[in-house]
Amino acid sequence: MEQANPMELLDPDGKLAALFEEPEPEPVPPNVHRVRPASIGDVLDMEEVERLAFPTLFPPTRFRREVDKSNTLYLVAARDWTDEELALGPDALRSNGGGNGLVGQLGSLLKLPARLLFQTVGGRSRQMPPSYVVGLVGLWFVMDEAHVVIIGNRPGDRRKGIGELLLIAALESAIAHGSRVMTLEVRGSNEVARALYHKYGFREVGVRKRYYADNNEDAVIMTTPPIQSDEYREHFEKQVREHEGRWGTSDRRAS
Ligand SMILES: CC(C)(COP(=O)(O)OP(=O)(O)OC[C@H]1O[C@@H](n2cnc3c(N)ncnc32)[C@H](O)[C@@H]1OP(=O)(O)O)[C@@H](O)C(=O)NCCC(=O)NCCS
Repeated sequence: MEQANPMELLDPDGKLAALFEEPEPEPVPPNVHRVRPASIGDVLDMEEVERLAFPTLFPPTRFRREVDKSNTLYLVAARDWTDEELALGPDALRSNGGGNGLVGQLGSLLKLPARLLFQTVGGRSRQMPPSYVVGLVGLWFVMDEAHVVIIGNRPGDRRKGIGELLLIAALESAIAHGSRVMTLEVRGSNEVARALYHKYGFREVGVRKRYYADNNEDAVIMTTPPIQSDEYREHFEKQVREHEGRWGTSDRRAS
């Protein structure tokens, strides 16, 4: 005679057994933000992002000139408009900044840039720009170094992995370019940015005294270990996998 399974007698609906099963990890949807090289058409967005991310910076960066230089690379992080934003249309976005967090970001402060933004696409007004640019990173390739001249995103889009995505894309570009190290300057008080750079292996190697004109603050000089080394690549790839596990895989193009 067939023996009854004692577990089935105790737990005929399988509810207890289900409690001990490892839950399947939820698949992470693809990252809605993608990184691509900046073009002339992005200049107004880049100026707006720079103003928001670096309110005291003067003079502003001349992106129109910068994006065309041969020894620079500017990348932007952008996402598609949401259905809600598309339904609101450019007029609503122009008047109140739009939905999904845009209201706060493009509100009263940005009425003028937002208006200009909508006038730039193909020279037509009352058009939605093709995508919403949330952040940018700029690199200068000088000798064997890739120097980060700017990295920042809109205040309303912080802590969504976008700054890190931009740094990943910048490092990938520098590796592909054959640079030996990546370097940058950062305010001593900018703990947020310093934490991001430490995460990607940057070390603090020096100080430029009173580097920032607005408050005479010192700049900390940070540099990576050799980015072509196996050791660095291993660390970098691990961080990228973790970022993708958290925020989804992203489309990153440097050219
Ligand atoms: C620096 C900046 C680009 C970070 O962008 P972000 O999109 O908010 O950052 P992310 O969400 O990608 O976070 C990446 C890492 O940055 C660090 N970080 C970001 N926000 C932080 C915070 N509020 N406190 C501490 N660390 C923070 C952490 O190391 C974080 O990794 P974790 O999520 O594993 O902790 C953004 O804050 C910014 O634009 N700041 C103004 C401009 C600026 O200072 N640029 C740097 C000039 S050198």
